Amino acid sequence: LRSLPPSKMADVYFSMFPEDSEPVWSNPCEDNRHLKIWAGSKSCERLPKLLVIGPQKTGTTALFTFLNSHPAIKSNYKNPATFEEVQFFNGNNYYKGLDWYMNFFPVPENDNNGSAELFFEKSATYFDHEMVPQRAFALLPHASIVAILIDPVRRAYSWYQHMKADGDPLANSYSFLEVVTASQDSPRLLRHLKSRCLRPGEYAGHLERWLDYYPSTQLLIIDGDILRSDPITIMHHLQRFVKIKPFVDYRDLVRLDKKKGFYCQIMSNDSSKCLGRGKGRRYAPMDSQAEAILQRHYQPHNVALHKLLVRLNQPVPLPTWLKADLS
Ligand code: A3P
Repeated sequence: LRSLPPSKMADVYFSMFPEDSEPVWSNPCEDNRHLKIWAGSKSCERLPKLLVIGPQKTGTTALFTFLNSHPAIKSNYKNPATFEEVQFFNGNNYYKGLDWYMNFFPVPENDNNGSAELFFEKSATYFDHEMVPQRAFALLPHASIVAILIDPVRRAYSWYQHMKADGDPLANSYSFLEVVTASQDSPRLLRHLKSRCLRPGEYAGHLERWLDYYPSTQLLIIDGDILRSDPITIMHHLQRFVKIKPFVDYRDLVRLDKKKGFYCQIMSNDSSKCLGRGKGRRYAPMDSQAEAILQRHYQPHNVALHKLLVRLNQPVPLPTWLKADLS
């Protein structure tokens, strides 16, 4: 048995148990011992009750905007460093700690009936990040989790187009076909780009990881095609899922903008506010060879997804692209 000053003792401990050196922020309100030593000015109400986890390019920004237009639902403040998303549970922001995260949310205001606003956060990179489900569950075990799915082939192409438009030098040097056919012999950066492009669309494996932590009753899967063509139905379903009050009729909040070809917010002066030019881009149709390669790539993932969605009984009905792909 040895005794050492605390920091020296910690060094010894972490050299013996390196896996414990990764912090996991748990919810102070779930543990009385933590609550006792937590500053009285802090509140677990300053944490989100709903996470929109992505993946990227499935309509997450549209859902974010629609949620934000609800009078009782509020998003986090913007993070200028990460294109507005907080991205706490993935990457280095996690090491900035709980106070850093909580400062992105307003101090909650109770209305006259005592019911608080519902805070939510949307970070589209959460969906496929290895560590996020475990970390999110440790801090937000009662949160509702929302994922959006579209045909993974279209998602991959939309992501590639997004990277190109964003000025990514690699995406601008290689065609989509070159990206999806990158092999072990290809340059490392190209292989990495391919993995970033394709991996999020391997939906079943990522969803199973979330379900390792969260019960299926807390997970809502949205069909991105319906979010795009009929967001009113989706927003009504989502409101029932999170049991928000008041229940708002989204026919008063969004409408189809013929020029943009998408649903947009109705503003107080009756004008439409659509998402920016980066959302709902127009680009050339996908190369048919690349499309066939991707369909083959996603086939086993889609079979697994089909089984998973049947097991979860959502979304109802199953996405049209999935049924078409499997037939
Ligand atoms: P494209 O730009 O490839 O068409 P995300 O916000 O997750 O990055 O997703 C972007 C995608 O959202 C767009 O991809 C577009 O197809 C889709 N989308 C769905 N509803 C939309 C809406 N109301 N306005 C604009 N884009 C929408």
